[in-house]
Amino acid sequence: MDVIIRNAKLRDRDGFCDIGIQKGVFTRIQEKIEETAPEEIDANFNLVSPPFVESHVHLDSALTVGDPRFNESGTLMEGIEIWGKKKETITKEEVKDNALRTIHWLMGNGVLKIRTHADSTEPDLKTLEVLLEIKESMRDYVDIQVVAFPQDGIFTLNRGDQLLEEAVKMGADVIGGIPQVEFTREDGIRAIKYAFELAERYDKLIDIHTDETGDPQSRFLEVIAKYALESGLKERVSASHTTAMHNYDNDYTAKLIPLLKRAQINIITNPFSNSLLQNRLDGYPRKRGHTRVDQLLQAGVNVSIGNDNIMDPFNPMGKGSMLQALYFILHTGHLSGIHQINRLLDLITINAGKTFHDESYGIEIGHPADLIILDAKDDREAIRLQSDCLYLIRRGKVLLETRPAKRILHLNGKDYPVDFRI
Ligand code: FE2
Repeated sequence: MDVIIRNAKLRDRDGFCDIGIQKGVFTRIQEKIEETAPEEIDANFNLVSPPFVESHVHLDSALTVGDPRFNESGTLMEGIEIWGKKKETITKEEVKDNALRTIHWLMGNGVLKIRTHADSTEPDLKTLEVLLEIKESMRDYVDIQVVAFPQDGIFTLNRGDQLLEEAVKMGADVIGGIPQVEFTREDGIRAIKYAFELAERYDKLIDIHTDETGDPQSRFLEVIAKYALESGLKERVSASHTTAMHNYDNDYTAKLIPLLKRAQINIITNPFSNSLLQNRLDGYPRKRGHTRVDQLLQAGVNVSIGNDNIMDPFNPMGKGSMLQALYFILHTGHLSGIHQINRLLDLITINAGKTFHDESYGIEIGHPADLIILDAKDDREAIRLQSDCLYLIRRGKVLLETRPAKRILHLNGKDYPVDFRI
């Protein structure tokens, strides 16, 4: 063995164990490995997890907040308007610098798989081109999927459909869409159909910005589920946001959720942006724009989480932390039942691995040796403290080491260490 991780706490295994790695692959997982290896890392009885997966982020707009101006109203519409101006003048160097910096933040928080959307409605497709270049240049360090995302719609533009196909030919991994932005319901359905045609023709995944609105009349999710079922693409299909579901009639939702389960599609929720952008115009009482995460999970639908926007015209905040997003949805999505908390980390690990469509994800013999060691004894503590990622390991190589902050309180001439861990 080349590397041994000692004293690891795995989530679904009692007690502690050692993990052996050879040639970048997990080869042993057992209570105690008697041999030694050239490199040994003591997990110190901390939680060892598969790396986090960022299921939905826009690396092309990340870190552009305030340029050319800040979002005064905080609304989605003003955000789209500001980004629309910015993308006309943004340079490839700017996209590259911002995206790489954001990737570093995500990796600093324990992320090794990223699905980024790339605005594919500019005629020169420059943001897509840059993100594809970054994907290639970073492939030894992080897995990136690029979604060809028609931010302004497909049939709202002259040759929008050809532009999307061009984006796919350039190498996008995933076909995107935004049917609720098309002029009519009929055009929205046409856009979904077109995304499925492209996915089948070019053998790609699908991830559509779906019903990202507070409007309860926005019902494109059922159309996506129907096509996923009928085409057989099923788990290769993801619907991002689905926030209108928050406001759907309960009778309708009782029909919809079993259909999602049957179609085996993935739902991606974006707790930060959805809570900022959806139902913002409600006045009071004010509903919050989250999809029905608790009901979806209860029904066995695969749900994962994204940051969506990190310091851009849609959300001026963010630091690329999946644990922070999880902590946030725990509160705003009423997911604090102990049975819910106990499975919550799935949303940024195994569920997100399924969304990424990666069958070799997870700490299992024969899988690529990717893992993180968190500064926490278990997943509940990791979520509560949004714990530091102490080590980020890819194919058996350490990519990140973190030294957590030490706090000493001085009271009455004495020093008291402050440790939030229990
Ligand atoms: Fe998005």
